[in-house]
Amino acid sequence: MPVELNDTVPLSWKNATGDNETMLQNLQANILKGHVRDRLHILLLQFAEGPEGAAEARAFLAGLVPLMKSAKTALEEVEAFKQHGSKGTPYVGVGLTNAGYGRLGLTSAVPSDPVFQRGMRHPDSLTNLKDPDPTQWEAGYQQEIHAVVLVGDADSSPADARLAEVEALLTGSITVLARETGKTQHDAAGRGIEHFGYVDGRSLPLFLTEDLDAERDTLDGTSVWNPFLPLGRVLVTDPAAPNPGTDFGSYFVLRKLEQNVRAFKAAEEALATALKLDNNDRERAGAMLVGRFRDGTPLTLQAEDGADKPVMNDFTYASDTVAHKCPFQAHIRKTNPRGSGGFETPDEEKLHLLARRGQTYGERTEGDEPESGVGLLFMAFNSELGQQFEFMQRMWANNSGFPKHDAAAQPGLDAVIGQGDRPSQTWPRAWGNDETQEVPAPVQAVTMKGGEYFFMPSLPFLRSL
Ligand code: HEM
Repeated sequence: MPVELNDTVPLSWKNATGDNETMLQNLQANILKGHVRDRLHILLLQFAEGPEGAAEARAFLAGLVPLMKSAKTALEEVEAFKQHGSKGTPYVGVGLTNAGYGRLGLTSAVPSDPVFQRGMRHPDSLTNLKDPDPTQWEAGYQQEIHAVVLVGDADSSPADARLAEVEALLTGSITVLARETGKTQHDAAGRGIEHFGYVDGRSLPLFLTEDLDAERDTLDGTSVWNPFLPLGRVLVTDPAAPNPGTDFGSYFVLRKLEQNVRAFKAAEEALATALKLDNNDRERAGAMLVGRFRDGTPLTLQAEDGADKPVMNDFTYASDTVAHKCPFQAHIRKTNPRGSGGFETPDEEKLHLLARRGQTYGERTEGDEPESGVGLLFMAFNSELGQQFEFMQRMWANNSGFPKHDAAAQPGLDAVIGQGDRPSQTWPRAWGNDETQEVPAPVQAVTMKGGEYFFMPSLPFLRSL
């Protein structure tokens, strides 16, 4: 059976045979399903010009393969952990930029996505995304990046040890342009949160039967919002690999997004005060910016937190078409309107979703409110950058007119990640009540510090170098 990228039936990895099974053995981990990466190291690399540089880069990349594992092995490790609690091995992932392919001397088999080929620093991407000028990015990101290596694990010592093995493969002509260290933040209940304090990583597209079954049977279900996406929204034939029928990769977005926690907390307070929310209701202000309360309770479902066992995800905005519960500009409503965006059919709209694999960075001490030095290493896998990541940031988050609705006032920018002019916005004063108030848009508390587009190739491609 060939690998069906547009199959409307999800793939069962446990029952995969033939080309599907080979595809899973040849694909990098972390693409179809997030790999545990509570500790994460990221290296941004530059290869030297010329034949010697190319040879060393090729040897480095091929040398990484024994440290890596396939999607199949990663899935088996998760299963073994569930069954017997046995710990998995660290994750190593590698991606190349368009310029990186060039340095390897591979110019004819470069992945074809035009957005990948031009890179995140290209003026078209800067304009689309309304990103700061690269001269304001962190120094390492201002250089021409050729490759990214990710090393992750649940614990720091296996992640550090595997990083040392990766570093031992680096030779003199390979420059480390930047290093990042990601570390999961937890709330008092032990849930993974981002730096503004909200549960993150709950709503993700799912590609595999087993993950959809688990979502249905062990979480709040899939009858209202079905998180299934076909493999073709995340996998792309690897054009430089030996066998196009079984060798796949994925476009990988990396963006370092600094979070000004103090500014965000002040924005939550300012909104609560402007709307005259009383004590018990003040927490709703932050929930209106994000679309979920800190514990993950979706604001469109209820007026206060507490629906977090499990954190709900089986919902749409069908009972909130006028946004008197969850504002249109709330982060999760902007980045996934769940069929209510108004410009496309629900099925078309869903094709813009992406497989988020982000990780928080920066150290915190209890109760602090850092203005810099902490944030999100936003990471996501895509099959079409212009239709997924760039579309989401440009046409949804940064677009004041999205989603389309009947009321006169425009939604304005995504209240968490919107970039661009910030017109004032309309907010419901009480949950589910038509009394609304116009308030200046919250300040931009997320700043892009650098990023790039990569292609994470198949394992046979890396072995062939
Ligand atoms: C969901 C925070 C950047 C796209 C969420 C959630 C939080 C969050 C708290 C809710 C948890 C969940 O539903 O999984 C942040 C913060 C960011 C950031 C603090 C920056 C520092 C981005 C970017 C994008 C993005 C750059 C894409 C352009 C999404 C999507 C969802 C989401 C698609 C799921 C929405 C849904 O399906 O309901 N984010 N995010 N986020 N975020 Fe972000």
